Amino acid sequence: MCGIIGVVGADDALDTLLEGLARLEYRGYDSAGVALVRPGETWRVRTAAGTESVAALRDACDGAPPGFRSGIGHTRWATHGAPEAVNAHPHLDCTGRVAIIHNGIIENHVELRAELEARGHVFTSVTDSEVLAHLVEESRRDGLELTDAVRTALRVVRGAFALAAVDAAEPDVIVAARRLSPLIVGTARGTTYLASDVPAILDRATNFFALSDDEVVRLGPEGVRAVDLDGAPVRLRSLAIDWDLETAEKGGYDDFLSKEIHEQPDALRATLLGRRRGDGQIAFDELRVSDEELAGVRRVVLVAAGTSHHAALVAKYALERWARLPVEVDISSEYRYRDPVVEIGTLVIGVSQSGETIDTIQAVREARRRGARVVAVTNIVDSSLAREADAVVYTRAGLEVSVASTKSFVAQVAALELLALRLAQLRGTLASLDVENLVRALEATGPLVAAALERAGEVERVAAALAGSRDFFFLGRAAGFPTALEGALKLKEITYLHAEGYPAGELKHGPLALIEPGVVVVAIATDPDLEEKLLSNLAEVKARGATVVVVATDDDESVAALADYVLRVPALEPLLSPVVDVVPLQLLAYSLARLLGRNVDRPRNLAKTVTVE
Ligand code: M6R
Repeated sequence: MCGIIGVVGADDALDTLLEGLARLEYRGYDSAGVALVRPGETWRVRTAAGTESVAALRDACDGAPPGFRSGIGHTRWATHGAPEAVNAHPHLDCTGRVAIIHNGIIENHVELRAELEARGHVFTSVTDSEVLAHLVEESRRDGLELTDAVRTALRVVRGAFALAAVDAAEPDVIVAARRLSPLIVGTARGTTYLASDVPAILDRATNFFALSDDEVVRLGPEGVRAVDLDGAPVRLRSLAIDWDLETAEKGGYDDFLSKEIHEQPDALRATLLGRRRGDGQIAFDELRVSDEELAGVRRVVLVAAGTSHHAALVAKYALERWARLPVEVDISSEYRYRDPVVEIGTLVIGVSQSGETIDTIQAVREARRRGARVVAVTNIVDSSLAREADAVVYTRAGLEVSVASTKSFVAQVAALELLALRLAQLRGTLASLDVENLVRALEATGPLVAAALERAGEVERVAAALAGSRDFFFLGRAAGFPTALEGALKLKEITYLHAEGYPAGELKHGPLALIEPGVVVVAIATDPDLEEKLLSNLAEVKARGATVVVVATDDDESVAALADYVLRVPALEPLLSPVVDVVPLQLLAYSLARLLGRNVDRPRNLAKTVTVE
């Protein structure tokens, strides 16, 4: 994880770094730091102030000496070493002239550190990253210029990295490189930038380029030069960016989370836009897999993490019901360690908002190694996952900044369900009229989500009544089960309250022992075919003193008798309903988090994009 930024040749270098870091905090915020360079001097400041680390860094930089035009900055999500200033980046070498920032994990740092210490290097942190500073130092001492020094260092490290290095002896230069962790370069007249992500430099750069794995880039007075690890010149991929800064900021909402919750109707519209041809066939322009190949799919495996995993679980019901395909869903961090069976005709779908989640990237890599065709469903164009896959479906939900995923969930469900319907079309497992009706119903979900959002006031009142509760169980059946998982994840993530999601029928196999007065049970009861069974489960918890909240459709009166509180949603075909049913659950988590005074955009211990295993 971690956010990195760099600038070369700017009169306002420090402001550029501090503003960029503020926009990268979603990648980590345990501590932050900057290093500025000018001839013969590297000036470094680091702070560790939890979620306020970047603000504290800004204060600590008050009175910075003038005249620096280049530098690097970092906001950290701790992996090796406590979130303390001493472990914050940038890290310096023994001379104090070389500074490095790093996102990722150096897997062989223990051996490298021992070797470097044996050669006389003195370490000042317990991080894995500091080895990079000392490795670069050694090559500099041997007379290599900075680009070659970084290349030489990277030959001996194993693991994942996006890194940048500066040296006061070459003060107008930053050298950066990546393997598995994101890194982009931006240019504007006379100034060059690098960052983990586009928003950090969106207001300053005019052209954007992405580094691929094992590419090393030098930003200097002559512009941008990229080479591979052997030093051979490479051409950086140009990125087309269609966001503006407004999109990357809060747009009038108190926080990104509520902005993104309210953007869900638009996210659904954008995801589904232009996917249906005049002849009724579903078309994904960006999906570079032929119809013959898709028709030949015999089995689907979905791999994903967190919220994306819950969207994948919804897709399982749709793929089985509509396309009549056997489907497995795996947590991506588990997939490659279980010796998975990949048969001919296996389609692996990697689902990831960021497209940078290392667990999911490694899972699809493993699947490809075993011969699977891989489709990425991701929100980020040209992300690592998109590049790893044979083909991509973009969710087009727009930039998601808040750590808790919301609009990406509904967009993922919509994209995956559309893909399920395409497979149904190609396999002939649904009548064309049924496909058409389902596609139209899917296209109509935007306004229904908007209608569910209009009931935020009702949800707030329920949240106020539940404000003292500490334990929550979310129950659902069929597609309501992943919705329950997602409701529980949102609640625990942003309120820090105990929450668990369960298939409703599973409760009596153990967890029922935990139900007592004071415990809240939230049930998703929007599937008429399963309602009777769910009502029996609710009677069981009610009898044991639980407070019962039910998510029910507008026309459903039968649940009200058992519920202490009812959260109403518009009725929808049950397999499509997760995109609407999740809305009151997101709002409930949001309202409770606000009542508890939590930082909803930056919950403790978490980061938006998890680029470490
Ligand atoms: O970017 P991805 O979709 O791959 O991220 C996966 C999870 O890290 C992510 O969904 C996480 O669980 C969210 N914080 C949930 O709100």
